[in-house]
Amino acid sequence: MSKKIVLIPGDGIGPEITDATKKVVKATGIDIEWVEHHAGLQAIANGAEEVLPKETLDAISEHKIALKGPCTTPIGEGFSSVNVQLRKSLDLYAAVRPVRNLEGIKTRFDDVNIVIVRENTEGLYSGVENTVSPGVVMSMKVATEKGCKRIAEWAFDYAQKRGRKKVTVFHKANIMKVTDGLFIAKSKEVSDKYDDVAYNEFIIDAGCMKLVQDPTQFDVLLLENLYGDVVSDLCAGLVGGLGVVPGANIGNEVAVFEAVHGSAPDIAGQNVANPLALIMSAVMMLNYIADNENKPEFRSAGDKIKNAYNKALSLNIKTRDLGGKSSTSDFAEELVKHISHN
Ligand code: NAI
Repeated sequence: MSKKIVLIPGDGIGPEITDATKKVVKATGIDIEWVEHHAGLQAIANGAEEVLPKETLDAISEHKIALKGPCTTPIGEGFSSVNVQLRKSLDLYAAVRPVRNLEGIKTRFDDVNIVIVRENTEGLYSGVENTVSPGVVMSMKVATEKGCKRIAEWAFDYAQKRGRKKVTVFHKANIMKVTDGLFIAKSKEVSDKYDDVAYNEFIIDAGCMKLVQDPTQFDVLLLENLYGDVVSDLCAGLVGGLGVVPGANIGNEVAVFEAVHGSAPDIAGQNVANPLALIMSAVMMLNYIADNENKPEFRSAGDKIKNAYNKALSLNIKTRDLGGKSSTSDFAEELVKHISHN
């Protein structure tokens, strides 16, 4: 029986890169039925009244797994972020973003191999913002014991299962003594239960300096919501940019896979976006299914895709963001050809 997976094309470059990703996944022969639902501006364009329609949320809850293109959020005014709403509604509390050098993409550092674990439901993304009095506005940072503890447990558990040696927390508990104080207190408490995974922490400003000086000293980075958002893009810059960093939003029941990047309105509709970050997110999804549902054929499908993009990059077949000339669809076609011939 086909595996049903919800597909959200998203906004901007979303439809182009989801289309490319679907073709690459199909080439592996794995039996997936994409159940398409909309979110973001695309949902409104399709007649929905809200950017995150209930039917989309219901479909993800039913099928448990989704692959999502990026969704646009207006700056300063308008609706609140679809992505934040989605992560909170489905309690997808762990954002996981592996950042690695790829064959054929020359960057300042070799051997970058960091996994960012970002708390995805609390912090300054609480959405509680007020005008206190004219000219005085306020945004509330929320941290709960439960939220801090479960993300720390998730990070250490992940590190242990994957044979990783160290979890590092970036924080600003010297200034935000209560909220970030709670985050590091729970992280330390959890770390005591893991003899085989080391723990250390840096104040985030110094941590960022260390990251750009020598990223190879980091293994798993554990961060609250906003720091995780910012540091994810910083880390993407270390390995070739936003076009090459995949991600997953994981809860206890449901997982939504999406690239770290946004809807890139500056290049939307031009067939030039790099689909690789979403293709890599699809590989994470296939591996997740293989592990959680004991279906090794999904891992084999993921391996085929991985081999195909490594081969393409090593032959200098790249999109514009990586200094190449391939279009979105040509790059996907190249992977399809490689998968079909191997
Ligand atoms: P962005 O990630 O969309 O773009 C930043 C820069 O990177 C742009 O120059 C863009 O052209 C480039 N870029 C991004 N992805 C690329 C790709 N796959 N291939 C080639 N170049 C790529 O970030 P920005 O401009 O801050 O946000 C645009 C919109 O995306 C906003 O509405 C934002 O809220 C939304 N967004 C959505 C996310 C999601 O759905 N998970 C995540 C981040 C932003």
